[in-house]
Amino acid sequence: MKRLIAFLVLFLAAPLLFAADFTGIWLYSSKQPDGHTSQMVLALQQTDNKLTGKIEHPWGRLDIKESKVDGNHFSITAITNEGHPYICEGALDGDQLRFTVRDPNDKPYDVVAARAQSDPVRVATPLTPPAVRDLPPNGLAKTPPMGWNSWNLFAGRVDDKIVREMADALVSSGMRDAGYIYLNIDDTWEGDRDANGVIQTNNKFPDMKALADYVHSKGLKFGIYSSPGPYTCAGYQGSYADEAQDAKTYAGWGVDYLKYDWCSASNLYPDSAMRAVYQKMAEALRATNRPIVYSLCQYGRENVWEWGAVVGGNLWRTTGDINDTYKRMMEIVDTQSAIAKWAGPGHWNDPDMLEVGNGGMTTDEYRTHMSLWAMFAAPLLAGNDVRNMSTDTRSILLNKDVIAIDQDPLGQQGQFVFKRGDVDYWKRQLSGGAVAIAAVNRANVPASVKIPWKDLGVGGNLDFKDVWSGLRVKALSDSGFTIPPHGVVLLRTEALH
Ligand code: GLA
Repeated sequence: MKRLIAFLVLFLAAPLLFAADFTGIWLYSSKQPDGHTSQMVLALQQTDNKLTGKIEHPWGRLDIKESKVDGNHFSITAITNEGHPYICEGALDGDQLRFTVRDPNDKPYDVVAARAQSDPVRVATPLTPPAVRDLPPNGLAKTPPMGWNSWNLFAGRVDDKIVREMADALVSSGMRDAGYIYLNIDDTWEGDRDANGVIQTNNKFPDMKALADYVHSKGLKFGIYSSPGPYTCAGYQGSYADEAQDAKTYAGWGVDYLKYDWCSASNLYPDSAMRAVYQKMAEALRATNRPIVYSLCQYGRENVWEWGAVVGGNLWRTTGDINDTYKRMMEIVDTQSAIAKWAGPGHWNDPDMLEVGNGGMTTDEYRTHMSLWAMFAAPLLAGNDVRNMSTDTRSILLNKDVIAIDQDPLGQQGQFVFKRGDVDYWKRQLSGGAVAIAAVNRANVPASVKIPWKDLGVGGNLDFKDVWSGLRVKALSDSGFTIPPHGVVLLRTEALH
């Protein structure tokens, strides 16, 4: 009888005794082929057959919305910031959590996570940023920075070899001599930190100092990228808590330009802390005594144009990312006029890098892209394969008149004036009383226009150059143009009478 009772007790209690316990911190940490460590944490609390908690990723923190535990199997669903379901499904296997992640932004992938004592993603707590003050200008970027950046074309595939080849190509193509001086490595160069907290490069970049020396030997300047958060947008090491150390490392390598990308800082700080957090890195850069152009990348939040200059920024992104489509390019265009007054020598609105030559737009659309960026006094950071450019791409990126409009020393950003039919008119005041006019055809069919000189405030008998055709145009008299679909006519005063 006693035996029977003991058996029954054991039988009934077994599910409780041996039930899988998911409560705890589960860490996935994996050395990637390029040498950086990718991490993800599941911080779980189990109550009966439900799980609550968080999924912490370098790029953000997701709350668990739904969950189910069935024996040692589990599934959890979180919602991404874009509103998509993010699903983890798998099982507890001994002391390992094995599961598949289904994320609409990614192919499904398998993860093996182990129990951890602490959460290396979550332990990052907000630092107290410095008290805000107005920094004096650093004297750099008197005209909008020009150069090349790796992200639009190469994203995570950029490496030492590509950068050297681009340096060579910037010289041989004439881009350097046309003004494209900065060769900027974007995200994914970062390795882990050494025991002293010094950032290392990953194995795509064996020797950053030697690479910077090579770039400098070509008469170019060298740019790099980081984040004020613990991770960059691509999940690599950011500068969180190591700002001063990183600034020293960059200066030691010979860095001339830093793009500082908010990314995972959004897990730590409210947007209202951006100003102080950006000021912190500006102060760290200045403490190195090396002239380093400072590029703020926080997608235009918090009206950055109102404070970007006084935190030491030489340029600040005004929008989310561009992509190689006419639609996205024009969405960005439509937000630029209202903030024009904040741009000027030393501090520029940055509507993101150029896509010219990357293949997603027509030649006319790329001419519109380049023309408008010049009208905006935008930084001109090419993002194409400079080693291998078509004649059209060359003619767009290397057009001296367009570059001269962009680089005009007055530094006044052009503004939208009005729309006539399908054509948008933009005007930019240039130094010495000169002026540039852009007429952009938004329609899918050609537009025949007469330039409304008077309404645009262009009086007198001015000579204009049609910058793309090279033809001379007389204001008030010559005014008939046919603008191709999504194309542009860009005019600049030639000589003043
Ligand atoms: C963000 C930035 C991009 C690029 C990537 C790199 O999306 O806006 O310009 O730097 O991060 O991860």
